[in-house]
Amino acid sequence: MRTPMIAGNWKLHKTCNEAVELVEALKAAVADINDVEIVVAPVFTALTSVAASIEGSSITLAAQNCYPQESGAFTGEVSPSLLKDAGCRYVIIGHSERRQLCGENDEFINQKAHALAAAGLGTIFCIGETLEERESDQMYDVLRRQVRLGLKGLDTTAMASVVVAYEPVWAIGTGKTATDEQAQEVHAFLRALLKELYDEKVAAATRILYGGSVKPDNVDSLMAQPDVDGALVGGASLKAEDFARIINFE
Ligand code: 13P
Repeated sequence: MRTPMIAGNWKLHKTCNEAVELVEALKAAVADINDVEIVVAPVFTALTSVAASIEGSSITLAAQNCYPQESGAFTGEVSPSLLKDAGCRYVIIGHSERRQLCGENDEFINQKAHALAAAGLGTIFCIGETLEERESDQMYDVLRRQVRLGLKGLDTTAMASVVVAYEPVWAIGTGKTATDEQAQEVHAFLRALLKELYDEKVAAATRILYGGSVKPDNVDSLMAQPDVDGALVGGASLKAEDFARIINFE
């Protein structure tokens, strides 16, 4: 069975001290939970402070981005092995903010996926359509392309470390969550696509998270959908109480 994952993407928020304060409060609030994989993704500069703070707890660390090279003349970039060294178990790639604001394309995201597999890190691979794409019936073509090109060349062994996150762009930071039915419909499509591209086993084992305005008051029904295996949470992960409630979904 797929262990649910609730991941907090802190985006560009929190100083080192604030990040530690948040994770300390979260640690206390989720101390009893052992059936959900809890992940937090602070900014790069807070990674080592948060890593020290969560040591021995059930919270794991993710980075929000990486560069697909190990080392070299790549000013301003950070490699998978350095993130692993800083205590990360996962790296988020393909987030729509990076696709839209930083011009990242499927090929570049695919290079990152391979670099993460080579470094032995888990990947939280984000995909999602814009409102325009959804309304013009291009949604499934877009999602299919993002999955096919983003995961291109990853074998079934590498797929064991990949978590897919479906984040419709129109639901991110807007307060406009996908309905339970919309989320389930796309997640079922993605699972069928994984079966087509890999096999039944990969499709059954891969966790597919939903992201986009997940809040304490909508998480329960989203998590009740058979193909929703967790959530990637932005805004609501910045408050320990809200994020703990989401982790404690019913
Ligand atoms: P919000 O939860 O703030 O909508 O953000 C979702 C997201 O982008 C997580 O990666």
